[in-house]
Amino acid sequence: MVDPMQSSESARSKDLSAATLAVWAGEGESLVAGATQVPIVYSAAYGYPDVESWLEVALGRKPGHIYSRNTNPTVHAFEEKVRILEGAEAATSFATGMAAISNTLFALLAPGDRVVSVKDTYGGTNQLFIDFLPRLNMQVELCDTTDHEQIEAAIAKGCRLVYLESPTNPTLKVMDIARLSTAAHQVGAVVVTDNTFATPINQNPLALGSDLVLHSATKFLGGHADVLGGVLCGDPKLVEQVFHYREITGATLDPMPAYLLIRSMKTLALRIRRQNDSALRIAHWLAAQPAVSIVNYPGLETHVHHDIAARQMRGFGGVLSFGLEGGFEAVKRVLPRLGLAHRAANLGAVETIAGPPATTSHVECTAEEREAMGIPEGLIRYSVGIEDADDLIADLARAFEVA
Ligand SMILES: Cc1ncc(COP(=O)(O)O)c(C=O)c1O
Repeated sequence: MVDPMQSSESARSKDLSAATLAVWAGEGESLVAGATQVPIVYSAAYGYPDVESWLEVALGRKPGHIYSRNTNPTVHAFEEKVRILEGAEAATSFATGMAAISNTLFALLAPGDRVVSVKDTYGGTNQLFIDFLPRLNMQVELCDTTDHEQIEAAIAKGCRLVYLESPTNPTLKVMDIARLSTAAHQVGAVVVTDNTFATPINQNPLALGSDLVLHSATKFLGGHADVLGGVLCGDPKLVEQVFHYREITGATLDPMPAYLLIRSMKTLALRIRRQNDSALRIAHWLAAQPAVSIVNYPGLETHVHHDIAARQMRGFGGVLSFGLEGGFEAVKRVLPRLGLAHRAANLGAVETIAGPPATTSHVECTAEEREAMGIPEGLIRYSVGIEDADDLIADLARAFEVA
């Protein structure tokens, strides 16, 4: 087996900024014949002239590839780019973000294990916690996301894995990654953090103490709403365990999406900084609107965990959510009037995207389950694109005329 997780680029990457790394990192090994861009390598398997050299690669003694379910040069370049941006020693990738999450949980947990997480993780993740893991006799304790003492107490009872997501989808709650990682390590638990909303431009969970960081690459890393993918980075032993699970169970990232992700990530820093700035402006504007009952955005000083966000994030991200005084009926009136937003179950794209949790992040849940997670039906998740913020504010103002 090849070792897809090591790179000669690590040493020099320490001196470069994230914006530069997003453009250059991870590609060197995969470039061929003087091409300046990573090729899309569509080969199911890789051939060798003799059994000895084949065996050297198969046993991981020499770099190379054997079979694309396991590793592939295009996919490897994508993994390397994210690995370097997250400051990780190892990375592996998946067909989707949910594959990254489920493969990580199923690879690292065994029947009888206990997991501590929070009530309002992404809806698909929540389904794993409330349905799929219990089927395998794993216990999951889901705590109140804003109550760090409750989470610490749940961790102190002993657990194998602590699963964090920050900021959360769609209520933009913030979890203190350093504090909860310390609590987890005291009981020998592994910490996994979903960094999809923040991206490595705004936050590096590994530097805060998390053992693993994962992304739905479908969102900001891809950035153009045209590709699905997932990626996991962190501790090499743990990543190797998950890589092995994925290479056998088969939720492999395809080379074409990997290529699109590499291409999109070259503009990651540009996009994220623009989206950070616009989201903050829009959040302030929304907070002053009479039609708006609540604005969830960690960049607002009024946010319950603004201080934690300011400490652990370099920017507050491109997603916010807001409630309308008129509840779900107002949401149904306002959403169709937005001219500069796709009404779709996605986020993190160059176009603005808006939708209620009932049809987006928490479509898998019943209204009662959403209520129990503290997700009001009258909420709109608003993923800010790279359009001009003034145009987006004018668009919202027009739509609010019927709120
Ligand atoms: C925070 C978060 N994690 C994971 C996922 C799942 O990713 P994917 O749709 O790529 O499977 C999503 C999807 O919306 C998400 O928002």
